[in-house]
Amino acid sequence: MKAAGLDGVVAAETVLSMVDGEAGRLVIRGHELRDLVASGTTFEDVAALLWDGFAAEGGNPAVVRHGLGSARSRAWALLPQLLPAAGTLGPVEVLRIGLGMLPDDDALPAHLRAVGALPVMTAALLRHAAGKAPVEPDPSLGTAADFLRMLRGVPASASEVAALDAYLVTVADHGMNASTFTARVIASTQAGLVSAVLGGLCALKGPLHGGAPGPVLDMLDDIGSEANIMPWLRSAIDRGQRLMGFGHRIYRVRDPRADVLKPVAARLAGGRNRIAFAEQVEQAAIAVLAERQPNRRLDTNVEFYTALVLEALQLPRAAFTAVFAIGRSAGWCAHVMEQEQTGRIIRPQSRYVGPLPAEAA
Ligand code: ACO
Repeated sequence: MKAAGLDGVVAAETVLSMVDGEAGRLVIRGHELRDLVASGTTFEDVAALLWDGFAAEGGNPAVVRHGLGSARSRAWALLPQLLPAAGTLGPVEVLRIGLGMLPDDDALPAHLRAVGALPVMTAALLRHAAGKAPVEPDPSLGTAADFLRMLRGVPASASEVAALDAYLVTVADHGMNASTFTARVIASTQAGLVSAVLGGLCALKGPLHGGAPGPVLDMLDDIGSEANIMPWLRSAIDRGQRLMGFGHRIYRVRDPRADVLKPVAARLAGGRNRIAFAEQVEQAAIAVLAERQPNRRLDTNVEFYTALVLEALQLPRAAFTAVFAIGRSAGWCAHVMEQEQTGRIIRPQSRYVGPLPAEAA
């Protein structure tokens, strides 16, 4: 029998975000996600919103922007130790080491240091893998603009920065997802924010959570042509493969983040990307999944259009999960601080179903 995976269990009360799986709705601190994105909310804005009441600078985007800029400069100083350790490791594996290098206590608060470190380390390790020297952060910029600049070595266009901000805001928080739950469990033992964020990253890495968008592109590549869509999808399902970018534990309808990200992807690259083909694959996948799982509606999740946004921003697919982590780190930190303020150690029980030792005579 399959484990229930805590399906339906309420693990915490939170003021941070509400995921309504029946209505396909995501509310971040009283705001609909689609309104936040439509009004041009930046990553710093959403971090300030999430941290309001939990961190000294929370609620003030300008102070958050300044703090994250300082944190990026601090992270730059760690690169001479981090990059030689990269070897042949993948981006998230290097980020695990990088976050592990942050001390628990420091004059700059841990949530700023953790969130500021991720874009600096991600950009540097991607350049390092391509044989290029890292580009120093510019603390006066926002996270999205500085990340793209540090990655490419030249400033990104305003529309690309806006697209990355829209993406980072879209993934900043999402209720009690697996990585956030992991972070809260670690925070509940008072192990500290750095450990909790590192734990969140490790949980995010898996293909059933934040590791899906790279494989979405692999799937589109592999399908290749319109004629191959249905045969490919049917054969994948027959082999017991999961279709990446579809299905969700909570949503019984389409993931609202997919609707937010689809137009963001369509606006990039002057429309010269593979949105039209992706839409055909999407419709076919939903139909095949409905055929195979008639009792469980499986629809598009955030990762499907994430893949197209990040591809149109010319990010290497191996880096998609690391970029997801940059966005989600704002939410992890908010949950950790909320847990530290309000929580009790999270310690559920298990039911033992193994053999008992023979009773002593
Ligand atoms: N492709 C094929 N079959 C699927 C898919 C899928 N994408 N999703 C669910 N199913 C099947 C399951 O195998 C299960 O079948 P079974 O009962 O015969 O074993 C049935 O549909 C019902 O599954 P759920 O209970 O709805 O799935 P669960 O809540 O356990 O898992 C998950 C949710 C992990 C997201 C799953 O849908 C999946 O693996 N999707 C593909 C990976 C993916 O896109 N991950 C990103 C998720 S979004 C995020 O985390 C940011």
